[in-house]
Amino acid sequence: MIRRLLRVHDQLLPSEGKAWLVWAVLGSLVVALLDMVGIAAMMPLMLVATRAPGHESVLDRLAPFGVHGVGAGIVVLAAAVGGVFLLKTVAAIMFRWWLLGRTSRLEGLAAANMLERYAEAPYVVHRTRSNAQMNRQLDFSMSQVFGGLLNGYLMITVDALTLILATVVLAWISPVGTVAAVVVLGGVLAVIQLVLRSHQRRIGRELSDVAAEQWNARIPVVEGFRDVRLTTSVPFFTQQFRETRARQARAVRKLSILSEAPRYLLEVAMVVGIGAIAAAIQLMGDTGQMIAILGVFTAAAGRMLPTLNRLGANLGEARAATVGLEETESTLAALPAAVTTHHSPQDDGSGPAPLQGDIELQGVGFRFPDSRDWTLRGVNLRIPEGSTVALVGSSGAGKSTVLDVLLGLFAPTEGRVMCGGQDIAARPADWHRSLGVVSQDVFLINSSLRRNVAFGVPEGEIDDERLARALHSAQLDDLVADLPEGAETVLGERGIRISGGQRQRIGIARALYREPKVLILDEATSALDNLTEKKLSMTLEELAGRLTIVMVAHRLSTVRSADTIVFMDQGEVTDVGTFEEVRRSNEHFAQLVALGRVG
Ligand SMILES: Nc1ncnc2c1ncn2[C@@H]1O[C@H](COP(=O)(O)OP(=O)(O)O)[C@@H](O)[C@H]1O
Ligand SMILES: [Mg+2]
Repeated sequence: MIRRLLRVHDQLLPSEGKAWLVWAVLGSLVVALLDMVGIAAMMPLMLVATRAPGHESVLDRLAPFGVHGVGAGIVVLAAAVGGVFLLKTVAAIMFRWWLLGRTSRLEGLAAANMLERYAEAPYVVHRTRSNAQMNRQLDFSMSQVFGGLLNGYLMITVDALTLILATVVLAWISPVGTVAAVVVLGGVLAVIQLVLRSHQRRIGRELSDVAAEQWNARIPVVEGFRDVRLTTSVPFFTQQFRETRARQARAVRKLSILSEAPRYLLEVAMVVGIGAIAAAIQLMGDTGQMIAILGVFTAAAGRMLPTLNRLGANLGEARAATVGLEETESTLAALPAAVTTHHSPQDDGSGPAPLQGDIELQGVGFRFPDSRDWTLRGVNLRIPEGSTVALVGSSGAGKSTVLDVLLGLFAPTEGRVMCGGQDIAARPADWHRSLGVVSQDVFLINSSLRRNVAFGVPEGEIDDERLARALHSAQLDDLVADLPEGAETVLGERGIRISGGQRQRIGIARALYREPKVLILDEATSALDNLTEKKLSMTLEELAGRLTIVMVAHRLSTVRSADTIVFMDQGEVTDVGTFEEVRRSNEHFAQLVALGRVG
């Protein structure tokens, strides 16, 4: 288990050293040693207090320090014991502070790295992922791995060392008493832990399931507000949420009681243990110091009981948390090992260098990993630099898939995509630098219009002139003028204040702000009214020649001005040519043109 934990640590935190773990173990040892000294110091105190055989020699040793007589001896020894315990307590708190700082920081770092890994994963992998799983992984499972397991194991180390060293001291004071104590307490502990094991694991599984189901119940309410509301399914989703919360509450209660219940049993065992120790000492005829020894054992028991309880609780939490480790292992197994798209091999520190030139799809075939059918077959296409190409064809023909392959989001199953003679797969960062992409669904962040257009650009680096140009080209000047705070107006995650057409224009402005070499539009103007669409077509015509434009569109007017029409059917390119050429060669296209809408 520890090896698996460390492997996950290395995978998620490759640049974090593990030397501190050695310090953690050494620190545990110091805390445990102080505890041991505290217990050992009890014996002389007890001997003097009970005037048991041997107390004279203790007093003799104190005499050189100017301490004379039983009364003074008790005061000095009691002060010494108190001092050692105080020191141990301060040391233990400091150690705990340091340890918690470490493990909490690592948990945060690991979660951030995990998020990065998710963001860098291949698009096909991303599409198979559920929101609920991702959210659970980033919060719940991360805290299980670093809080429940890593921190848990370190606390178990401290407590186990403390118990072992205390046992050594007690064995030195009274071997028979210690054997009796270990047999009684150890036996009770072993039985308790054996009984709890499988329960705690099962509860861990339940807690993990519930964590994901809760997300499944809350996501529709947030993301699908309209659908939830208008289908009067509010009770359905809230009830689902209520049930999962209730299940979570029951599981948390069970886990807590399983951690706490042993405490009461241990207290009983402790009382029985003291009796057993007394009986053992009596039987072995070692009765002279009986009262003193029993005093030390009782004091030690008082000290050790919280340690034993905490040990049990941490063992329980660690068992429940193994589910989180399993989840994390399987998440990591499904993600690529290293960050791939941040830096290109050519990156010399000056940032990505955009790819330029003709784009070529060479024998591209594409099949989804979980599918037996080919979504694209034998696509050969040459898109000269600066030309405008329109992909047309009925819905499901594969237009969006061709674009996703072209964008480098889907790696072709067969063939390759080239730009300026270079395989785009070899230089993903450079290729993405070349692109401006407008999808059908424009994603808006909960921020200002300005930041939605200069997407992902730090505030200080936003170029206002470029922003104004992009807004103007995307026909957004009127909107900016109408908004209460202009381009500074906050749009909201779901762009609540924004119409479908305005949203699309924001997407277009975002693509243009990047000053791309290649502009890709996938049904990017579908929600626009005719007039706005006409104006945007004019903008695109102005841009034509200066950059390469590849688009999927349905409106005849948009498509007509393209240099090349590519007709697609069932994943294959059937016709390529000018508008008139394709109209002549493809009957289906001719029919669509006659109807006024292509696709
Ligand atoms: N994950 C998937 N597994 C299998 N087939 C898929 C998957 N996603 C989409 N498809 C299929 O790919 C085909 C092409 O889709 P798409 O490129 O979106 O068409 P278009 O954009 O031309 O309407 C469709 O038939 C669709 O059902
Ligand atoms: Mg599509």
